[in-house]
Amino acid sequence: MAGIMKIAVIGADGQLGSDIVAACLADGHDVVPLTISQLDISDGDQAQRVLAAAGAGIVVNTAAMHQVEKCEADPARAFAVNALGVRNLARAANAGGARLVHISTDYVFDGAKAAPYLETDLPLPLNAYGTSKLAGELFVRAIARKHYVLRVSGLYGIHPCLEKGGLNFVDLMLKLARERKEMRVVDDEILTPTSTQSVARQLLHMLKQGAADGLYHATAEGQCSWYEFAAEIFRLSGSTVLLNRAAPGEFPAKVARPGYSVLENANLKRLNLNIMPPWKDALAAYMKEKHGIG
Ligand SMILES: NC(=O)c1ccc[n+]([C@@H]2O[C@H](COP(=O)([O-])OP(=O)(O)OC[C@H]3O[C@@H](n4cnc5c(N)ncnc54)[C@H](OP(=O)(O)O)[C@@H]3O)[C@@H](O)[C@H]2O)c1
Repeated sequence: MAGIMKIAVIGADGQLGSDIVAACLADGHDVVPLTISQLDISDGDQAQRVLAAAGAGIVVNTAAMHQVEKCEADPARAFAVNALGVRNLARAANAGGARLVHISTDYVFDGAKAAPYLETDLPLPLNAYGTSKLAGELFVRAIARKHYVLRVSGLYGIHPCLEKGGLNFVDLMLKLARERKEMRVVDDEILTPTSTQSVARQLLHMLKQGAADGLYHATAEGQCSWYEFAAEIFRLSGSTVLLNRAAPGEFPAKVARPGYSVLENANLKRLNLNIMPPWKDALAAYMKEKHGIG
């Protein structure tokens, strides 16, 4: 069991970063929260300097350019942050002897498998975001001497994700349900909605148990379409909005995305370290905490 750990969290005011900071503080660890104004990961010299000054044994990177359309429009910037920025962190972590924890995505897969993806499945990203994130993973695995790469999916958390307009899917559905009588949501994209609080708890558990270096899928248990996700949100909130399945192609995506991106937490399960909850349980806990529902 690890004692008190010194943990630097990059992207500390983001959706996932803020929950990792909160979980680590609540568990009594020494936390160095770093926002983009203190560390822009695309600046290699700054990464070396700031992480050396932080002196943390664990560096958690949640920072990314993850708006899929923006990445497609500006792949050079997406690679500067999601790939080369992560390489900067791997080098800086090595210089200080730190373990690098890097957050990646289900969008490294193309969805063709149509069954839960294992860590051993071959990634084949469909867009610039997924490709830049895969490049970031590979830099971590090739350079960082001590590392975890955690692939997560469909995040929602208490703290708003500013890059996606400040409303996560749950909050957006609740807002639209108040404004409309009827809604249509796509039913042909399957994922696992995952609360950032669950990921933060899972990561802390891995650190405390001394999980081996490597690549881990860390999503909630189960799967659903966006339509089914919305239906559960409305069931829990008692909303009377009329929810319909969108017709295939009714909301054409501007950028190709995997139609199926469910991940199996195979490595966590193999090590008996998986504490990710069923997605419906985590959603109910989130709606209670954030909206007082339930
Ligand atoms: N959201 C999802 O559904 C989802 C799904 C799968 C994987 N992921 C991955 O999960 C991670 C966390 O996502 P999230 O939803 O927590 O995102 P988020 O709320 O946007 O948080 C990301 C944080 O990183 C900061 N940041 C952006 N560019 C940076 C840079 N160059 N240097 C330093 N900090 C920078 C952002 O600051 P500003 O806001 O000031 O730019 C923000 O504080 C990302 O790696 C993402 O790829 C997310």
